[in-house]
Amino acid sequence: MPLSLLLALATAHAITQPPDVLITGATGRLGSLLYQQAKADTRIGSVRAFVYNVTKARAALGCQKCDPSEGIYVGDVRNPLALNAAANGVDAVLVAVGASPSDTPAVAKAIEVDGVENTARAIYASKGAAGQVVLCSSMGTTLPSPDPRQGGSILFYKLNAEASLLAADVNSVVVKPCGLSLSPAGQSDLLVGQDDSLLNLTVPVVARADVARVMIEATVRREAQLRFDLCARRGAPTTDLGALLDAARYPSARR
Ligand SMILES: *[C@@H]1O[C@H](CO)[C@@H](O)[C@H](O)[C@H]1NC(C)=O
Ligand SMILES: *[C@@H]1O[C@H](CO)[C@@H](O)[C@H](O)[C@H]1NC(C)=O
Repeated sequence: MPLSLLLALATAHAITQPPDVLITGATGRLGSLLYQQAKADTRIGSVRAFVYNVTKARAALGCQKCDPSEGIYVGDVRNPLALNAAANGVDAVLVAVGASPSDTPAVAKAIEVDGVENTARAIYASKGAAGQVVLCSSMGTTLPSPDPRQGGSILFYKLNAEASLLAADVNSVVVKPCGLSLSPAGQSDLLVGQDDSLLNLTVPVVARADVARVMIEATVRREAQLRFDLCARRGAPTTDLGALLDAARYPSARR
């Protein structure tokens, strides 16, 4: 077979191969949903979890040894060494890490901003510019002084993390949900928007399980340079997540 054909086949294979993923913050409420959904999705290859607390991992992810033999990596996103080891070989990292309101500003910044920068470097070390990071951030970042109950200064750090991720030389997706609920997936009309216009909804809430679905869809579709608000309302449940993501681009970025 000519070399050019072999190379073309190898490239096509690389594109159609289900992506291997790492989920950071995997013991959290969003992270554990991402982990379960990714494991159940045949369009995703292997699934690893990066966890801060192995006791929580045992409960939330159902692992036994909870070590790399089971795809579970223990570490802190503030520690690039552990993160690089966990991301080595994967195609995408789905980020569900978040600072807690009780963290000091320095800790919140380290988790939210340094953690995302470390994640972008880790995926770049694994797959170069073909690597992908799918970040769960938050709506509310257009407010200059957000109420602490709506995230306070953590939103400022999230916005900084988004900016550095979108400038990184990797495929980046930033999902910015409104208020998060524990409702099951696939029960509401999902809405995408920009610049907090959806904060306008009477009840700006979306199920974490739907946020996880949208993040996984963006991973499977190898989306890049995409940033959007995500919310929901009562109505016919959204089934075509691809169309939703197509509608999610800024008007200036639509093809
Ligand atoms: C890990 O999680 C367990 C169970 O939630 C908790 O009791 C323990 O304090 C946590 N350890 C650390 C280091 O956060
Ligand atoms: C909702 O958004 C629309 C369009 O952005 C705006 O015209 C309207 O004033 C907003 N309504 C509220 C209640 O904020």
